[in-house]
Amino acid sequence: MKSFVGSRAKKILMHSNIGQPFFTDFKVDSALDWQMSRAEKYAIINLLTHLKPNVSIEIGTFKGGSLQVIDAFSQEVYSIDISSAPKKFLSEKFNKVHFLVGESHVLVSQLLKDLDTQGKSVDFVLIDGDHTTAAVKRDILTVLNHPHKKKVHIILHDSFNPQCRKGISTIDYKKFPHVKLVELDYIGGSYWHNDTYREMWGGFALIVIDPTHNNGVEITASLQHMQKSLFWRSVHLFKDPLQFLVPFKQRLFRKLGIRQRIEMYKQFDD
Ligand SMILES: C[S@@+](CC[C@H](N)C(=O)[O-])C[C@H]1O[C@@H](n2cnc3c(N)ncnc32)[C@H](O)[C@@H]1O
Repeated sequence: MKSFVGSRAKKILMHSNIGQPFFTDFKVDSALDWQMSRAEKYAIINLLTHLKPNVSIEIGTFKGGSLQVIDAFSQEVYSIDISSAPKKFLSEKFNKVHFLVGESHVLVSQLLKDLDTQGKSVDFVLIDGDHTTAAVKRDILTVLNHPHKKKVHIILHDSFNPQCRKGISTIDYKKFPHVKLVELDYIGGSYWHNDTYREMWGGFALIVIDPTHNNGVEITASLQHMQKSLFWRSVHLFKDPLQFLVPFKQRLFRKLGIRQRIEMYKQFDD
């Protein structure tokens, strides 16, 4: 935790925005690591209390933080992760959830077809898997390309992150006349996020698909100016163009036995 001294010597602490106090009737299981800010937690609890989905899909299970809410308010849940660890560790706790292991866009595409065959359809999707521009775009397009017969609400986590935001905002929504709403800053994100040096993370984008809507859509983004201004002061300015080096860095670190932050998504026993 870092401290700052303001002009009147008032001390401001850079504190995480994920924890207590948290006021809700929903019983949050604090044993489940939940990678969302307090604002995002309030929002998803409220949204799902209202939507009460029949069928929900989650991309990015991790340790079951967001899954606990999706599970509580949905009749049927499919939770997808590229790692087999969530299925292994969470199956017993969430016995009505279908855990799917693999690449999200491949699994979602097949799942939507299977649901059709069973006379079902998805109502709610949380996209919180691979956060690179190409992967975010691919996940969204997989959902948009399906011929939905009912309304679908899609929440995309980390819309404040430059790479994710690019993935969401560079889709040509004109090609999808049933998309009724694209709101990039449905819930705002943050800068210097929970002690990650000058990084921009968090935020929810909301996309609503409505098969009865046919007029096209404009993207709205209430925090666009703030997001752009912060970008120039963030590490993303230098770090994101060097993303292509990540696989080499990962291989080198593995050889040297240095633990990387990304590993936490695979190792669940710490
Ligand atoms: C940020 S975590 C999800 C956090 C969780 N939704 C929560 O709120 O606690 C991202 C997860 O996405 C998974 N993931 C990464 N790339 C993926 C892909 N291509 N397909 C499916 N899952 C992926 C990771 O293994 C990780 O568990």
